[in-house]
Amino acid sequence: ALPQTVKIVEVGPRDGLQNEKTIVPTEAKINLINMLSESGLPVIEATSFVSPKWVPQMADQVEVMKGIRKKPGVSYPVLTPNLKGFQAAVSAGASEVAIFGAASELFSKKNINCSVEESLQRFEEVMKAAKEAAVPVRGYVSCVVGCPYEGQVAPEKVAHVAKRLYSMGCYEISLGDTIGVGTPGSMTKMLEAVTKEVPVSALAVHCHDTYGQALANILIALQMGISVVDSSVAGLGGCPYAQGASGNVATEDVVYMLHGLGIETGVDLSKLMDAGAFICRTINRKTSSKVAQATCKL
Ligand code: HMG
Ligand code: MG
Repeated sequence: ALPQTVKIVEVGPRDGLQNEKTIVPTEAKINLINMLSESGLPVIEATSFVSPKWVPQMADQVEVMKGIRKKPGVSYPVLTPNLKGFQAAVSAGASEVAIFGAASELFSKKNINCSVEESLQRFEEVMKAAKEAAVPVRGYVSCVVGCPYEGQVAPEKVAHVAKRLYSMGCYEISLGDTIGVGTPGSMTKMLEAVTKEVPVSALAVHCHDTYGQALANILIALQMGISVVDSSVAGLGGCPYAQGASGNVATEDVVYMLHGLGIETGVDLSKLMDAGAFICRTINRKTSSKVAQATCKL
């Protein structure tokens, strides 16, 4: 049976913008986040506390965190790859963070410059500090069906990393199809393996739409009982360390599908589309959302 309500985790300001080559003005990022909050989204990933040498677009993380209007009831998690990032995030006022690992060795090396095992050790340090500060931690697993450097990824590897993150205390594990190569076939196999190790209530899916499979893959996840979906307004994004990866599935399209299924999201689609139109205008980019492109509004 499908869930009655779905929590959408909006990752546009982070996953969406991190891949933009031209630096987006801080003020525009802040406006975008504020508009997204007004649309009723419950979670907005705001920025990341990573090295500015690795991801220059996120170098204004402190100004973004200090500039946004934090709407009561909305959470604004940020990415923290290590203890240094965690401490900086908390000083800037973050009250929730996310650690990000991978099911593929080569991707881990390219993305965070360490092996999967080393990353898990770093995350233990973040976890310990987060527990002391009572900061909830979300865990990502990247390359859950395919890796740009290693090809297909075995479902057991994904299950193993997901279980490790869950066991160390992450309240939610987001399964990332980083390069959008998954199909309902490979998603099903991967989710069958992961749900043996992590309760389905603690899982989220994070689908990029490179091959146009994201909505179908999300529907598979919903049918398996997953009720948390990551998406990016206007379908912005990609990962700078996964060449060719296009944006996340567009939030507008996810909301349209969920509402069509009778599933509640709390999101006002028209306000969400205003936020999408605003950021596309600002960065001079065409929306990737089919719903936003459609001129015949139902
Ligand atoms: P490193 O070079 O191995 O780190 O990078 P290091 O510890 O040797 O430090 C090197 C320099 O970075 C030092 O500065 C540190 O102080 C600094 P220097 O002495 O050279 O001036 N540094 C930092 N600065 C700011 N914030 C920090 C930090 N840590 C060290 N937290 C590191 C290791 C993890 C830092 C680097 O590889 C990195 O920042 N990687 C981030 C890459 C990234 O953001 N990727 C995109 C997000 S993941 C994604 O998109 C996938 C996802 O969407 C899910 C999916 O789709 O699958 C989540
Ligand atoms: Mg991503």
